[in-house]
Amino acid sequence: MLRNTLKTLLSAWGPSGSEHQVAATIREMLNGHVDSMRTDALGNLIVEKYGSDDNARRIMISAHMDHIGLVVTAIEKEGYLRVMNVGGVGIKESQTRHVVFENGVEGVLRVEEPESGASPAIKDLFIDIGAADAEEARGMVQLGDMAVYAPDMFQVGKHRIASPAMDDRCACALLVELLLYSENQKNTIVGVFSTQEEVGLRGATVAAFGINPDLGLALDVTAWGDTPGTKLPDVKLGKGPAVKIMDRSMIATPMVRDALLEAAAAADIPVQREVLPFGGTDGAAIQHTRAGIPAGTLSIPCRYVHSACEMIDMRDMDGALQVLLQFVNQI
Ligand code: CO
Ligand code: ZN
Repeated sequence: MLRNTLKTLLSAWGPSGSEHQVAATIREMLNGHVDSMRTDALGNLIVEKYGSDDNARRIMISAHMDHIGLVVTAIEKEGYLRVMNVGGVGIKESQTRHVVFENGVEGVLRVEEPESGASPAIKDLFIDIGAADAEEARGMVQLGDMAVYAPDMFQVGKHRIASPAMDDRCACALLVELLLYSENQKNTIVGVFSTQEEVGLRGATVAAFGINPDLGLALDVTAWGDTPGTKLPDVKLGKGPAVKIMDRSMIATPMVRDALLEAAAAADIPVQREVLPFGGTDGAAIQHTRAGIPAGTLSIPCRYVHSACEMIDMRDMDGALQVLLQFVNQI
């Protein structure tokens, strides 16, 4: 069940570069259901499910396991931790958040108001772990340890779910379900649960080079344009998954983009067209490897991306799974 898979994946701890808990969870879910599984030097989990056709194409489908976090840069004498962002951490989104380290130490992320009256910056973030002084703090965490927004999944209305790490665990859940439920599909699925996307598509870059697929697809969240004050991109929650036309990292290969649109039509699933004025996905890493690979992105509309309350609509998830099942058979 997509919903249960998602719930399990959302609770795994995994900032960029430390995705091993997420990978272990996925390995367990897929064990015995795929033809091969391996982990590469960057921690990418690469899973193959062979196609039934004699001329099966190898389609790399990527979903990133990492999410944004904070890394300890200094421990102050009063016991507070200074931190630096790992990926796109927003200042506004960081005010007074519950965070957790891998060893279970919990704390409150705060933004210090700069004295000059200037707007706060990353250097003004700190974490309060309840330590009385530096010595006590050093007994709890070390320089270089990472923290993430603490897991906190909740239902919003009938169809929506909010949680930290929805970017991109919702796509990991989709890819797990695709690998579990596609049977005798025409093409070979090379599922890549990628690492370090949030710091620059690093895992997918080496995975795509190594795999050298015939075709590539990234699964990721995209932004929204349907809340007060936010009108771009023209993407709404609950109106179906979005087929990316372009973002700042790539222009989707027309053949892949159109194949996604055709798969959606054949599966009778409504989709949206996405033009995102910022951001990027693993799709770019696949498209720009070697001498170039045809690639595209299927997106899950997500509100409040990179906050502790990233919200998606499960109807878009269900639709995306149907489009993917059709896509790997049709193209
Ligand atoms: Co992201
Ligand atoms: Zn993402």
